[in-house]
Amino acid sequence: MAKIIDGKAFAARVREQVAAHVARLKEENGLVPGLAVVLVGEDPASQVYVGAKGKQTVEVGMNSYEHKLSADTDEATLLSLIDKLNNDPAVHGILVQLPLPGHLDSDLVINSINPAKDVDGFHISNVGLLGTGQKAMVPCTPLGCLMMLRDHHGSLSGMNAVVVGRSNIVGKPMAQLLLGDSCTVTIAHSRTKDLTAVCRGADILVAAVGRPEMITGDMVKPGATVIDVGINRIERDGKTKLVGDVDFASASAVAGAITPVPGGVGPMTIACLLANTLTAACRANG
Ligand code: GUN
Repeated sequence: MAKIIDGKAFAARVREQVAAHVARLKEENGLVPGLAVVLVGEDPASQVYVGAKGKQTVEVGMNSYEHKLSADTDEATLLSLIDKLNNDPAVHGILVQLPLPGHLDSDLVINSINPAKDVDGFHISNVGLLGTGQKAMVPCTPLGCLMMLRDHHGSLSGMNAVVVGRSNIVGKPMAQLLLGDSCTVTIAHSRTKDLTAVCRGADILVAAVGRPEMITGDMVKPGATVIDVGINRIERDGKTKLVGDVDFASASAVAGAITPVPGGVGPMTIACLLANTLTAACRANG
């Protein structure tokens, strides 16, 4: 049976460290880091995420600024808000919750954020900086995965890592981070031939496909570390259940270590958002 990597406990430790650093900044420099979160529309999942982000921001002693805009907000209005936040010295981090309503151009909106305040790490400048090994804002979910992997293994150098999923938010930056830690990295996706064989070559297997329980035990190399990024709501036995992209029952019988859903990657994502906001505030103030 695999060791369970407890993301919830790890995230609590990260938040404690952030809170201690924030308290020091306040005392020594009179500086309070601020995070602005922009939500357009009423998507229920996004509302839950934004609520959790705001609550935890305040809990670590930072200022939270929530901007909730109606679903029919036009691009000019949104860009004007971002411009205001870019120029507000009390705001060190800006996050525009995705997905945006269809009439808004996500790339244009994200790239209008000041890259130094882009705590999601989605701005094209940060993508380029990460890809070339320079000092970047790193996307929160892959950063959280990397922290758990480093904590479990120490060095990742020379390990075979397979990332299943090629999204800009998780798959691609995850691959870059693993490459930065000297893994041999494969990105697999829906067109990959013989996905089972590819996955079975992985010492580190990261599942970020958004398909409930797609990665099964027969796809896992014995002793491998499995990181499950998926958050899928499914109906089972007449109940709504939260499951990952990994079939936990079969995979945990083969893996050496595995993250559960819930309580694995999810809590680490918000903890890393807080850490990125702190980093942005420190960089902004020399
Ligand atoms: N929607 C789902 N995940 C994310 C995320 O990490 N950041 C933002 N801004 N929106 C998301």
